[in-house]
Amino acid sequence: MALKTRIISFSNHKGGVGKTTTTASVGTILASKKHNVLLIDLDAQANLTASLYDGEVENSIYTALIGKSELPIIKLNKYLDLVPASLQLAMADLELASVMAREKILSELLEKVADKYEYILIDCPPSLGLLTLNALTASTDIIIPMVAEILPFKGLTMINDFVSMVQQRLNPNAHVSGIIITRWETTNLSKTIEEKLRENLGDIVFKTKIRKNVSLAEAPLENKNIAEYAPKSSGAEDYRALVNELIKKLKKE
Ligand SMILES: Nc1ncnc2c1ncn2[C@@H]1O[C@H](COP(=O)(O)OP(=O)(O)O)[C@@H](O)[C@H]1O
Ligand SMILES: [Mg+2]
Repeated sequence: MALKTRIISFSNHKGGVGKTTTTASVGTILASKKHNVLLIDLDAQANLTASLYDGEVENSIYTALIGKSELPIIKLNKYLDLVPASLQLAMADLELASVMAREKILSELLEKVADKYEYILIDCPPSLGLLTLNALTASTDIIIPMVAEILPFKGLTMINDFVSMVQQRLNPNAHVSGIIITRWETTNLSKTIEEKLRENLGDIVFKTKIRKNVSLAEAPLENKNIAEYAPKSSGAEDYRALVNELIKKLKKE
């Protein structure tokens, strides 16, 4: 009997912070360790879908969200499944605006398939709109990737307020399980920001940080995950370490 499925949203309303890269890398590495994983692409830009799958997408998560299909699941390998996104998702906010319990649609869709998976990872769009609300409502854990470029504290307050709102109104269990520093460089700026984040936020910041590494940007262009594309790169090394830390962290909670 599997433990209860962990549903993890990778969320930050800022774009370009590594949400998609982290979802793809963590998902493929977990699957390579024989954990059953479902990846959900919830961004209309469909970067996660494009980075892992080069076939035609017939139905995307959009058709499931508007009630016109079950969750469309693509099998990527024995342990890894993907629910793809499509550009139509950009209309979901508008189309779902008048639906009853519109923030619980994803949660209800996932309930039907959750027992097949140990981990469900959701790649959130760069906004705090209805899709992100659906993701956080469905999640047992929220992880925030963050670039060590500018001091991101203002953004963090915004996310915390949003999570509090989700907790109070929709999902009392929603909480931020971790913050990942991504695209880290050996500059004084990166170091200072890392120091400040750890000082202010403590253990919630993962010890593993993801260094800036060009292989991480190249891999999706080849429809490959980092572990396959450049297993010896610092990107692969960092994400493997992150996955080990994540598994331990989730076990403790
Ligand atoms: N650690 C990293 N080193 C170098 N490039 C990265 C790294 N993480 C992400 N990237 C690249 O930065 C861009 C933004 O990352 P992405 O994961 O798409 O962010 P988001 O999903 O938050 O918008 C992409 O082109 C990606 O390939
Ligand atoms: Mg993205």
